[in-house]
Amino acid sequence: MHVLVVLDHPNPASFSAAVAQHFMNGAKAAGHSVELADLHAEGFDPRWSMADINSDEGRATPIDVMKEQARIAKADAICFVFPLFWWGMPSMMKGWIDRVWAWGWAYDQLDDPELSLQRTRSGVLLVPAGARSDEMEDAGYLAAMETAWMKGTFGYFGFAPTKLEVLFGSKGSPERRNALLQQSYDAGYMLASSDAVS
Ligand SMILES: Cc1cc2nc3c(=O)[nH]c(=O)nc-3n(C[C@H](O)[C@H](O)[C@H](O)COP(=O)(O)O)c2cc1C
Repeated sequence: MHVLVVLDHPNPASFSAAVAQHFMNGAKAAGHSVELADLHAEGFDPRWSMADINSDEGRATPIDVMKEQARIAKADAICFVFPLFWWGMPSMMKGWIDRVWAWGWAYDQLDDPELSLQRTRSGVLLVPAGARSDEMEDAGYLAAMETAWMKGTFGYFGFAPTKLEVLFGSKGSPERRNALLQQSYDAGYMLASSDAVS
């Protein structure tokens, strides 16, 4: 498969960047081709603007959005890597999704609210988080993410199968962090194809 890895972190030495690298190493070891979309390094502009609104209304799609859509078109699987910020996505990843997965290209709820305009793709979210797993589960945050992201966003865009791996305790001991990096490698190595569900 061809795998696109979308990374939201400004620091190339961050834990999130290491997570993306380990995932890519695993995916390559399994025989997949990999492309990295390093949104900060590439200077993607996440601000939803009048150009995006005009594009929804039938005028030209902004060039930077077209470029991202072209690399999505090539991908059979996409892995999203971003740190958990206030139980949600940081603004760069949020803006990339808002702008790039646009009405008329990714979805068209006027015709069929259940039908994505995109082909089925395998999707993985690797999300480093400071909290412990029990804190997140007990408070209902994990269930909220499953609903908002895996169903309401990536499911809506036609991703299947999807996998959310919150990397709990990402600020913990070196042993903990190494285990999370191994988990990221394994997610790449064992990446599921969408063939079984499409
Ligand atoms: C602005 C901000 C908001 C954060 N919000 C949360 C949060 O809601 N839940 C959580 O578990 N961790 C939260 N954290 C902790 C980060 O998720 C954690 O520091 C990050 O995963 C570490 O990744 P990094 O080393 O790649 O930056 C937050 C951190 C920052 C800077």
